[in-house]
Amino acid sequence: MKESLCIRVHRSEGESIRKKLVDLCVLNMDLKIRSIGEYLLIPVTARLEEIGELTIDIFEVLEYERPLAQAPGAYELIGDIAIIDQHEVNVEDIAKILLQHKNIKTVLQAKSAVSGEYRTRELEFIAGEKKNETVYRENGCRYLLDVSKVYFTPRLSTERMRIAEQVKDGEKIVDMFAGIGPFSILIAKRSPGAQVISIDKNPVAIKYLRENAKLNKLGNIEIKEGDAHEEVSGISDADHIIMNLPHSAIEFIDAALGIINNGGIIHFYAISHEDDLFEGIFKVIEEHAARTGFRVISLDKRIVRPYAPYQYNVCIEFRVVSRQG
Ligand SMILES: C[S@@+](CC[C@H](N)C(=O)[O-])C[C@H]1O[C@@H](n2cnc3c(N)ncnc32)[C@H](O)[C@@H]1O
Repeated sequence: MKESLCIRVHRSEGESIRKKLVDLCVLNMDLKIRSIGEYLLIPVTARLEEIGELTIDIFEVLEYERPLAQAPGAYELIGDIAIIDQHEVNVEDIAKILLQHKNIKTVLQAKSAVSGEYRTRELEFIAGEKKNETVYRENGCRYLLDVSKVYFTPRLSTERMRIAEQVKDGEKIVDMFAGIGPFSILIAKRSPGAQVISIDKNPVAIKYLRENAKLNKLGNIEIKEGDAHEEVSGISDADHIIMNLPHSAIEFIDAALGIINNGGIIHFYAISHEDDLFEGIFKVIEEHAARTGFRVISLDKRIVRPYAPYQYNVCIEFRVVSRQG
């Protein structure tokens, strides 16, 4: 029997945890899940504390079984490209193990954190096929992308589905920072009667977004390249606005308030310190709304994932209503 780093989980939670591990790209697909009494042993490719981006409450219930000396280290899988964490040192060894997996063709290593206006990171080629372009599949959609030129993370797949599930046919959705389209494409595909307007400033992300609309055979997406401040001009009556630019979405809140339908919902992402996850940022949003003649009603405030020590990527959802209405 092969040894592997595993997590032990009660059967009743097995499927939901397995899906989470797929989202986090740490499920070891080469090994079978073993069942022991009322527990399952789910093989994983990395120690979870090394991943650094977990939904805390789910993983508190888990424990490790039989740590493996050869655990490959932290990496992220996007399509057939594995990206090793920038802090890993024995990258050649990790790459060798990764390339044994039939679905991994290229191994890169992150050389910087995600940064800059386009939220990209420096990547270095380590082994395998020399390429940066891949096709990633998620929730029944396909996404072509160049991992070195656009922002993308597989770790928001559950979040994207959660937003998509709120959209009804006939509604107008504005994705203000759409990237290669993981929110926009999923919504347009799930709700063919919805009208999706997707904006991004990165011309390469826009190129892939256009390709991805074609790849997924969608006719209900309008794509706009440019700064969201300007590109919202001419848009009105949005039922949902997705603001996934966590470090600076607040700078665009007036632009969003200017195009929202009375009663529309804003899905607002931010990075917050653990001492004040929601209240500070929500107060600023309330002040902006009041200045422009709106009232905001909080619908949900959630931690999406840990971001850095003491900092979290959070989502605040609120309904916007006119003071007159
Ligand atoms: C955190 S990424 C999110 C992308 C996408 N929503 C996703 O989940 O993959 C933020 C995106 O906002 C874009 N962006 C940054 N500043 C912008 C601006 N002023 N106007 C429009 N898009 C902008 C970046 O190019 C990047 O693709």
